Amino acid sequence: MSDLYKHPYPSAELEAAHPFVELGFNRLAPNEMEARGDALLELMERRRSVRMFSSDPVPRELIEKAIMTASTAPSGAHKQPWRFVAVSSPDVKSAIRTAAEAEERINYEENRMNEQWQAALAPLGTDWHKEFLEMAPWIVVLFEERYEVAADGEQRKNYYVKESTGIAAGLFIAAIHNMGLVTLTHTPSPMAFLTKTLNRPENERPFVLFPIGYPADKVKVPDLKRKSLGEVSVFID
Ligand SMILES: Cc1cc2nc3c(=O)[nH]c(=O)nc-3n(C[C@H](O)[C@H](O)[C@H](O)COP(=O)(O)O)c2cc1C
Repeated sequence: MSDLYKHPYPSAELEAAHPFVELGFNRLAPNEMEARGDALLELMERRRSVRMFSSDPVPRELIEKAIMTASTAPSGAHKQPWRFVAVSSPDVKSAIRTAAEAEERINYEENRMNEQWQAALAPLGTDWHKEFLEMAPWIVVLFEERYEVAADGEQRKNYYVKESTGIAAGLFIAAIHNMGLVTLTHTPSPMAFLTKTLNRPENERPFVLFPIGYPADKVKVPDLKRKSLGEVSVFID
């Protein structure tokens, strides 16, 4: 370990109290690092949100892998404050669609979304119809766990719940895309109905809903451009 550090981590006392393991890290060759960076960037540049799905089935194992990949996310105090509820039941998907469309109809038709919001959505062409919620073979609803409930019923705080769950969501989307599937980050607002429809406990709050599957034949997506490096970053050397 580097002798540049005056305060070794873990200290002998810490390690005596809590187990630590060696990271086991191998540096890659510079050209390998660059190639991997390029490969992931190229892969992720091809990710798109899809709003029309094929009804072709997707094996449950692939959904499980995506959930376990998402669950490698860092989280505040390692609380992993997320719960993925994976639904393939046609009846439950249908109930989700009915409830989501009821909320979205108010958003779009009764102007619960203000004009600025509606204008921002115009290029996407979204409306209150959410047929894909029944068509996609899977719906995965990601819940944030606001606090933990211990076996004895005691409530324990979770930390940075939204940040942690957001990072897990990103990894989940990347895992789905990497396996050759598509999804949509969907937030039928307000989402409280999902707690009831999916029979989730009081300490869980719906975060994002992901329909997952293959895209419908010849599906189209908005021709969006992504911001350049200069627009999304500042380097301070
Ligand atoms: C937090 C969040 C909520 C979103 N909610 C919706 C939604 O409810 N309905 C929808 O059609 N798209 C939704 N989107 C998808 C965005 O419209 C989409 O990511 C954006 O237009 C960029 O397109 P891309 O994902 O294909 O790059 C949401 C995205 C995020 C990150």
